[in-house]
Amino acid sequence: MESTATVALDRSTQLKAFDETKTGVKGLVDAGIAEIPAIFRAPPVTLASPKPPSSISSQFTIPTIDLRGGTDSMITSRRSLVEKIGDAAERWGFFQVINHGIPMEVLEKMREGIREFHEQDPEVRKRFYSRDPSSKMVYSSNFDLFSSPAANWRDTLGCYTAPDPPNPEDLPATCGEMMIEYSKEVMKLGKLLFELLSEALGLSTNHLKDMDCTNSLLLLGHYYPPCPQPDLTLGLSKHSDNSFLTLLLQDHIGGLQVLHDQYWVDVPPVPGALVVNVGDLLQLITNDKFISVEHRVLANGAGPRISVACFFSSYLMPNPRVYGPIKELLSQQNPPKYRDTTITEYANFYRSKGFDGTSGLLYLKI
Ligand code: OGA
Ligand code: NI
Repeated sequence: MESTATVALDRSTQLKAFDETKTGVKGLVDAGIAEIPAIFRAPPVTLASPKPPSSISSQFTIPTIDLRGGTDSMITSRRSLVEKIGDAAERWGFFQVINHGIPMEVLEKMREGIREFHEQDPEVRKRFYSRDPSSKMVYSSNFDLFSSPAANWRDTLGCYTAPDPPNPEDLPATCGEMMIEYSKEVMKLGKLLFELLSEALGLSTNHLKDMDCTNSLLLLGHYYPPCPQPDLTLGLSKHSDNSFLTLLLQDHIGGLQVLHDQYWVDVPPVPGALVVNVGDLLQLITNDKFISVEHRVLANGAGPRISVACFFSSYLMPNPRVYGPIKELLSQQNPPKYRDTTITEYANFYRSKGFDGTSGLLYLKI
């Protein structure tokens, strides 16, 4: 029998060898593998999928919100929209938005650009492969490849597009310009969402924006290749986002799930919609009024699946600003649940913890 030490050594050798191919999971699929390598096998407990019983499944539908009234001068429609958004952020932490103002063509071009990047000549792709967080752009398979218990069936390309957008020349030819154009649209929509969320909290319209929630934006273009054994691994392990808010563009494949009342609820693809979710930092500053909910992505046999996640957060950047529960929301009945922190401190903790299924917010609980 192999000793645990031998297995561990073997695993780390395999991880290193995989990383050194610099072509990610897509490279494995291109090589025609029929079985997934051991490093991707997830423990059965993390794959388990309790679904809500059909008798109550209608209560388990992620809200879809029509944003048309958001910029409307009609006060009543704005008020009803604020109520819906507040309710969704409070009860689900997740919702989809339609009529959000980003043209369909921009969404399609963004997804196509990410697809082209991951499907281009591997020799070109390889030149971008890096785990250096200080580089302007990062392309790698599994940010936490060497620390997570099981690797995910996913490759990712990403960069910060705000506050200092990179020069298009520093980005891949396949999608660089689109990343910048798409981010501008996401920034506009994000500002509207933070205004609506501020109002839903009973604060002035600009309150969350004035707390620098929209200062920086990280864009990640995920590529989930088709998987020969999708029941043995995950596309993305269970986690909550280390952001104020995340805006996600998915395609028609599906597989994103949200943990709601102990059940995994699907976030169904809706053409033209964007998925919005509350991140840990918004839960922190709203003192648990809005919830940052765990979610994951199943591996798929039909893909590739492409998604583009934009995080309002300065996760990897130095930021001295101190965040804690917003004073205006606190009272004797609602004392602060978290101590003050900086995003940098929180990010370091989040990173060192890895996607281990626990919330990083526990670390800050009073
Ligand atoms: C993420 C995320 C979901 C998806 O990047 O944090 O949850 O569908 N992505 O890719
Ligand atoms: Ni996420």
